[in-house]
Amino acid sequence: MLEDLLSRLDRLKEFLTIKPLYYDLNTNEFVWIDTRQLPWNEVYIRTKDYNRVARAIKDMEIRGAPAIGVTAAFGLTLAAVHSKAKRAEELMNEIKEAYGVLAATRPTAYNLFWALDRTWRAAQRAFEVENDADAIREAVLREAFTIYVEDVENNVNMGRNGAKLIDNGDRIVTHCNTGSLATAGFGTALGVIRYAWHEGKSIKVYADETRPLLQGARLTVWELKKDGIPVTLIVDGASGLLFRRGMADLAIVGADRITLSGHVANKIGTYNLALAANANGKEFYVAAPTSTIQPVVGEDSIVIEERSPDEVKTVLGRLTITVDDVEAWNPAFDITPPELVSGIITEKGVARRPYEKTLKEIIGLTE
Ligand code: MRU
Repeated sequence: MLEDLLSRLDRLKEFLTIKPLYYDLNTNEFVWIDTRQLPWNEVYIRTKDYNRVARAIKDMEIRGAPAIGVTAAFGLTLAAVHSKAKRAEELMNEIKEAYGVLAATRPTAYNLFWALDRTWRAAQRAFEVENDADAIREAVLREAFTIYVEDVENNVNMGRNGAKLIDNGDRIVTHCNTGSLATAGFGTALGVIRYAWHEGKSIKVYADETRPLLQGARLTVWELKKDGIPVTLIVDGASGLLFRRGMADLAIVGADRITLSGHVANKIGTYNLALAANANGKEFYVAAPTSTIQPVVGEDSIVIEERSPDEVKTVLGRLTITVDDVEAWNPAFDITPPELVSGIITEKGVARRPYEKTLKEIIGLTE
């Protein structure tokens, strides 16, 4: 039943050197690499329980906007496939409950809500047309698998589109982790960097360490080293000096949510990087699939996740770096305004200012 999707996936296998997450069709389990344990241990976890999947998102075993979306869709699949419900109505109620649990995991990544809605709509269609529990199970699995395969395809297309903006010899600053480990495979901003490298361009990456959870130091460096792409690790505050001294040519980052006006929510520190690039006359690009674009204008709808102050007061919970009772503020994301964004690289092309016009064209929203 999924042969067409499996063959689409097979055509992408050269890009899937790291398989961060997948659905095991033999056992009906969802499988993922626990990114919290990287780069020290490569541990894969598997489950049949959507509540466990929700915990994996909440605790950031799985993170990165596209990866969160794909995972949530497979979470709904587990809820449907392993439900004992015989009647279609009963099954729909259980899927709806799972939807609520998965939607409450993390608030910022738009892909989470986009993927849950898309999978839920597939269940509703099957319910309305066939009113049969097994038909709903099949529809949910198929939709989640489609979202998964499309995510890898989109990343490769985004890579191809974005690599045109990278010149031979470019030195690129990136923030957080936007690679295979943040998606269904290959990556967004890191996918663009990877694509340029595979085209034979000689490039060098500066990876922000990305305080407080160190996705840059732990995950981006791990991925780039595996590919043999030259990488230098820097602290988040170093990019200003880097650009000022002419040591970097451009910045490329991913996004958790982009609105039609071109406001970009991404890992905390992204805005500072954009300011540093712009102040020094350098391009600042964002790479994200259209599933990250929320069809609203402005930044008011963007919910910024605030995480535990302990993440700031310690290094990964292992070493306390401050005075015990100090107050700490830990917003996990920030918002970069459109005037600092040189272009938004998507699987359908590169959008330029004015974003309200170009993003609407890209996602097919007509007036
Ligand atoms: O808190 P995280 O690790 O989920 O944040 C991830 C990011 O901010 C990424 O840059 C973003 O999701 C784009 S990933 C392709």
